[in-house]
Amino acid sequence: MKTNFVSALFSSILAKIKGALWKLCYQHMAKSYRREDWKFMNYGYAPLEGNPEMMPLSQADALERYCIQLYRHVASDVDLAGLEVLEIGSGRGGGADYIKRYLKPKTMMGVDFAKDAVAFCNRNYCVDGLAFKVGNAESLPFADSSFDAVVNVESSHCYPSVAAFLGQVKRVLREGGHFLFADMRSKEDLSVLREQLRQSGMTLIRETEITPNVLRALKLDNERRTAMIAQMVRKSKLKGFLKFAGVEDTKFNKMLKNGEMVYISCLLQKSNGGAMHP
Ligand SMILES: C[S@@+](CC[C@H](N)C(=O)[O-])C[C@H]1O[C@@H](n2cnc3c(N)ncnc32)[C@H](O)[C@@H]1O
Repeated sequence: MKTNFVSALFSSILAKIKGALWKLCYQHMAKSYRREDWKFMNYGYAPLEGNPEMMPLSQADALERYCIQLYRHVASDVDLAGLEVLEIGSGRGGGADYIKRYLKPKTMMGVDFAKDAVAFCNRNYCVDGLAFKVGNAESLPFADSSFDAVVNVESSHCYPSVAAFLGQVKRVLREGGHFLFADMRSKEDLSVLREQLRQSGMTLIRETEITPNVLRALKLDNERRTAMIAQMVRKSKLKGFLKFAGVEDTKFNKMLKNGEMVYISCLLQKSNGGAMHP
């Protein structure tokens, strides 16, 4: 009994340390790298066959096409037009900006715990109905039932408590509202994530493994990612940044290829007082 308590306490302290390190890391990146054309920090998405370009984009938006396509994939289950939408972990704001301009929600709010990332977004996007705010995924600064949809892309792996995060998603969603989610986990942690989603009190409508789509996007985007990083960062930081960006022959890319890491997307709904998925 005592051993279980100690090991749970130890895991929770470790998770909190990991969360604090992620905060430092994202805060540092936002403060140090201010280039306006770097708007995304996800691995991207491409269909497995045929033309990898899923939809027409303006020339400026097409620069980070595959990162946008991950948002398009995640958001494709629900018509967001006219809705009030929240993104948690909005990073450099490209996803929220894409959703607002292309998918036409009434309002789009991005929230991130890195205050310099939020300042970057508030400086760089001037779109009616699009706003960014500092906030933590585990204690969102919004009233209950404020949003029709919540989007979360490649951010949840940083959170010390995914259960607390999912509790917040459910709290800020209106009845019938949707949770649009994508992220990766190690093969071992995927079952933990599935159980957390199952216990969230929201109904799981769809789960899709998109690892091959993410890998195709990373391959097609490899040259651009590598060139941008080489241009932007000092030599001493090059290796770390390439790994962070998932380029070919780095740790996470290899783990996705050999199945040690799995990328999924899901659609959940808050409904009928939050029925549990069977
Ligand atoms: C890999 S980036 C993805 C950003 C964005 N979703 C995208 O696709 O470009 C992860 C983001 O999650 C944010 N984040 C991590 N932990 C967070 C937390 N506990 N609360 C709010 N944001 C968090 C980070 O600051 C970072 O901007």
